[in-house]
Amino acid sequence: TLSRLVLGIETSCDETGAAVLDETGEILGESLHSQKHVHLRSGGIIPTIAQQLHRDNIERVVQEALERSKVDPRELSAVATTVKPGLALSLGVGLDFSKRFVRQYSTPFIPIHHMEAHALTVRMLQHVPFPFLVLLVSGGHSLLTVARGVDDFLLLGHSLDEAPGDTLDKIARRLSLITHPRCSTLSGGQAIELLAKDGDRKKFHFTTPMGQTNDCCFSFAGLRSQVTNTIQNQEREEGVEKGTLLSCVSDIAGAAQHTVASHLAKRTLRAILFCKEKGLLPPSSPSLVMSGGVASNLYIRKALMAVAETTGLQLICPPASFCTDNGVMIAWNGVERLREQRGILPPNVDVSYEPKAP
Ligand code: KG4
Ligand code: ZN
Repeated sequence: TLSRLVLGIETSCDETGAAVLDETGEILGESLHSQKHVHLRSGGIIPTIAQQLHRDNIERVVQEALERSKVDPRELSAVATTVKPGLALSLGVGLDFSKRFVRQYSTPFIPIHHMEAHALTVRMLQHVPFPFLVLLVSGGHSLLTVARGVDDFLLLGHSLDEAPGDTLDKIARRLSLITHPRCSTLSGGQAIELLAKDGDRKKFHFTTPMGQTNDCCFSFAGLRSQVTNTIQNQEREEGVEKGTLLSCVSDIAGAAQHTVASHLAKRTLRAILFCKEKGLLPPSSPSLVMSGGVASNLYIRKALMAVAETTGLQLICPPASFCTDNGVMIAWNGVERLREQRGILPPNVDVSYEPKAP
């Protein structure tokens, strides 16, 4: 094949992912091992367990991606691996594996920033020229950024406490949704979206966070305590034990989902107006890309759609499988960097990871 080939490796959180892409973004082979089912049961990610699961799976996942692509490691033009941000212990597994791999096969190495990879994935699927606005919302991320180039991002806002998916997961856990017959296999966010459909979101009112703050940052911890207080009060009123609320569960889910949607929509609107004022987006057909696990929520999508429509932006939401962590998005970032000759390191370079958030 004439096209250059990139192997991408992702281990920043709870997915061990690998994929081989050609330069056009065609996925030649991929493999993904998710630890989510393990962490769902334990009520959150325990870093040492995540690390062990990455160690148990990395070799096989990379082998699978390579075998499915029928590419020999010596044919690779580069190995791209997430080096930050994420859980230090998890990142370390992918990085150590990659360092050994590139030394063994003398392959150039491309360190990847996990958030940049999320932001660029959409360009693998359709033509989205720089610059464009990105809203990343998942269990671990929450940020607004202008993607101006492969390695040029202007961060407009981030979460001051927790990410929206994390908040929804914690609320779902407080409501014991995992024991709910319709929700036992769903993530917290999915469970809340499902139940909210049967609820009356107006029965409860939660204050949209940061109403008085003039920036594009997010905060969800205050919303979580508002919701927790409401759950507590309802439990008291019903005279039931903690975590066994029967009535109003879907109403609370609906109100919480609505407040998350409203907060995301308001901050994104601020970001768009700021971009327009500063001329940061192209005057004709600017795009708003929404990605991350929470972006698959249809109620939240509708709220963002309304913001995009009133401001003349096109809302683009990549399919869920490309919104969540995987090796493909890392390989694609490698392809984009290879094309532009940005941040490509020799096989023997010693890269260390930076476990800090951006
Ligand atoms: O991107 P992702 O798979 O993993 C990372 O967090 O990196 O996102 C998972 C998060 C979880 O917090 C989950 O509750 C949330 O995304 N999520 C949703 C929905 N599906 C997943 N939140 C709201 N509505 C959904 N439909
Ligand atoms: Zn991610």
